[in-house]
Amino acid sequence: MRIVHVSLGKRSYAIKIAPGLIDRFGRECARLNLGLRCAIITDTNVGKRYAKAVFNSLATAGFSPSLIIVQPGEAAKSVKTVQSCYDQLAVHRLERKSFIVALGGGVVGDLAGFLAATYLRGIAFVQVPTTLLAQVDSSVGGKVGVNLKAGKNLVGAFYQPRLVACDLDTLKTLPDREFRAGLAEVIKYGIIYDARLFAQIERDLPKLLRRDPKMLAGVVARCCEIKGKVVGRDETEGGPRAILNFGHSIGHAIEVVSGYGRFLHGEAIAIGQVAAAKISASVLGLPEREVERITRLFRRAGLPVAVRLRAAQRPKLFAAMRLDKKVSGGEVKFVLARKIGRVEFGHKVPAAVIEQALNLESPAPD
Ligand SMILES: NC(=O)c1ccc[n+]([C@@H]2O[C@H](COP(=O)([O-])OP(=O)(O)OC[C@H]3O[C@@H](n4cnc5c(N)ncnc54)[C@H](O)[C@@H]3O)[C@@H](O)[C@H]2O)c1
Ligand SMILES: [Zn+2]
Repeated sequence: MRIVHVSLGKRSYAIKIAPGLIDRFGRECARLNLGLRCAIITDTNVGKRYAKAVFNSLATAGFSPSLIIVQPGEAAKSVKTVQSCYDQLAVHRLERKSFIVALGGGVVGDLAGFLAATYLRGIAFVQVPTTLLAQVDSSVGGKVGVNLKAGKNLVGAFYQPRLVACDLDTLKTLPDREFRAGLAEVIKYGIIYDARLFAQIERDLPKLLRRDPKMLAGVVARCCEIKGKVVGRDETEGGPRAILNFGHSIGHAIEVVSGYGRFLHGEAIAIGQVAAAKISASVLGLPEREVERITRLFRRAGLPVAVRLRAAQRPKLFAAMRLDKKVSGGEVKFVLARKIGRVEFGHKVPAAVIEQALNLESPAPD
């Protein structure tokens, strides 16, 4: 088993990474000094595969779990689902010492974490992430929340889990497209922080795509370590944590203008990162060769590296970028790379440079 520690003073916690972890999950929770009652929150896809095993593992360790199942997909991250889950938590009589188990991808993690942050003014929660994206990204760092009609993640909190248990076996049932989307975040860690990780992914991509357990264990652990370190320095995103948003300003805008659902988040940020690399070349002098390495790696991972937008969508893309909540004072600030493994945040970029990076200046079909 690999263990990564996230150091946040009294809110510190461990990320445990291993195959077969669900079987030991109850025992892992027993070490945390929590109450006996708990609620497992999951979605139907994950629930039908893993809820029973998690339930039994908790029950065997002496806990009294109850199960709350939501619909799969982004729509579950809504105030409406929150309301219905609150009601179920109350029916199950969860108390101050009780805890919530988030069993699923980033949607369930963000939703369950938000419930834990707010129910009875906050009860403990434990993450059992089951997508690659959730294991390397969303389950670590304590951002929890739900969406409003006006935009994604507009209601939420910073609220740290007590434990993150990544059972690598769960990745075996993850649909291929979801797995590749998760790789977009993995590659991101290479670009923003760790040139060696980037080179390792270049070398071992076929093994990674085969979901080789040893390879996955090493890569997931390294990504968690990087995210843990960055978050440890800047828990509430005042500064350095912004580097985690490499490729995300453009990526989010692409998600918005192409209509949620066309691209998975990982796919949109693959396009965003390739654009950010091109912008980095013109603004910071990132060598062309590195732009090519980045583009090639996303392509080899089966991710899109460009998007064709109709002329009418282009102004919407820029409007969406300006509306992004990471924008302050109406100005879009970019995370840009000097070289693979080193990025800087807070760069202003002229619209023309963004257009060029996205290849928007050429005529497009209407
Ligand atoms: N909190 C953060 O810091 C943070 C960071 C990044 C993303 N997010 C959020 O994460 C969400 C996306 O998360 P996601 O990509 O994990 O999507 P998701 O939770 O929707 O999961 C993707 C799909 O895979 C299914 N699934 C999950 N695990 C499975 C498994 N092991 N086997 C088979 N099917 C499985 C789910 O039911 C769902 O249909 C977004 O809402 C995003 O805003 C949050
Ligand atoms: Zn992301």
